[in-house]
Amino acid sequence: MSTTHTITLNDGNRVPWLAFGTGTALYGKNATDSVRAAIDNGITHLDGAQLYNNEDTLGAGIKASGKSRSDLYIVTKLNKLDPGQTVKESLAISLKKLGVDYVDLFLIHNPLPAIKEGKLKEWWQGMEEAHNGGLAKSIGVSNFRVEDLKEILDGANVIPAVNQIELHPYVWKAAQPIMNLGREHGIVTASYGGQTPLVRAVGGPADRVISTIRERLERTRGKPVSSSQVLTKWILQKGAIVVTTTSKVSRIKEAIDTENVPDLTPEEIHALEAAGSLLHKRAYMAEVFGE
Ligand SMILES: NC(=O)c1ccc[n+]([C@@H]2O[C@H](COP(=O)([O-])OP(=O)(O)OC[C@H]3O[C@@H](n4cnc5c(N)ncnc54)[C@H](OP(=O)(O)O)[C@@H]3O)[C@@H](O)[C@H]2O)c1
Repeated sequence: MSTTHTITLNDGNRVPWLAFGTGTALYGKNATDSVRAAIDNGITHLDGAQLYNNEDTLGAGIKASGKSRSDLYIVTKLNKLDPGQTVKESLAISLKKLGVDYVDLFLIHNPLPAIKEGKLKEWWQGMEEAHNGGLAKSIGVSNFRVEDLKEILDGANVIPAVNQIELHPYVWKAAQPIMNLGREHGIVTASYGGQTPLVRAVGGPADRVISTIRERLERTRGKPVSSSQVLTKWILQKGAIVVTTTSKVSRIKEAIDTENVPDLTPEEIHALEAAGSLLHKRAYMAEVFGE
């Protein structure tokens, strides 16, 4: 079993909808076995970052899987630039650690380091150079707010293909303006932290709604549907890529199986978002979003 559904970016490249992340639970840890297990069980899209300090073991996991490069979709993210270093030089170091000639997608991880130096536009130009040089098939950003997107869109030669942000019902209100601006420019949202209502905000106002939707989907499908799949399905119906992680093979399979879960109805989506609006809970990047 592996993912079949893809999302097409504004540069024409196609992305497998489900990514296995090597941050959070694997942050700073050896990711070799987890990555290998994810690929062995059907994952083709791997989400890495310089900041996670494990690009070398992400690369080792990829190598151990024996999969050919063209069957995989590999992402990494720019953390910061050393004095005098170019974006291209920084990405070249990542490529070496990953053991590949190019990444499919390269993201600015967080706008703040560049903003602090007054260099956000300059960083984006550096991303464009890395793209033009063939080091990254697609380029994008992460944790960009409306004002950050506007700043780089002004004068950009390449429109970002992706903005990777936290996305679940408890940040939906805050995410909407960012996603709306993204949509105007064909910027696809990639989501992380999507399981927050089940993992980091247990007992919150969305619990009951998730449970009701889960029961209805299970009846319609005639097969088990998990709460986790309800949240993943909601993200997919927003047109977003899903970046998640797990230490359990059963959850990798369950995440992939979300492709086979029936759609939430417009009423169910509305109910989930209404419940989500009762609690604001951001799990990551409070320093950027200030909430
Ligand atoms: N760009 C950024 O700034 C940024 C920030 C954060 C994350 N990310 C990326 O997104 C990836 C995923 O982030 P995330 O960990 O926040 O994703 P998530 O999908 O919200 O949470 C995944 C975690 O939740 C646990 N989990 C999943 N389903 C569960 C359930 N039903 N009950 C209890 N626990 C459950 C998993 O643990 P088990 O091992 O027990 O399954 C796993 O550790 C990261 O690895 C990273 O690649 C990017």
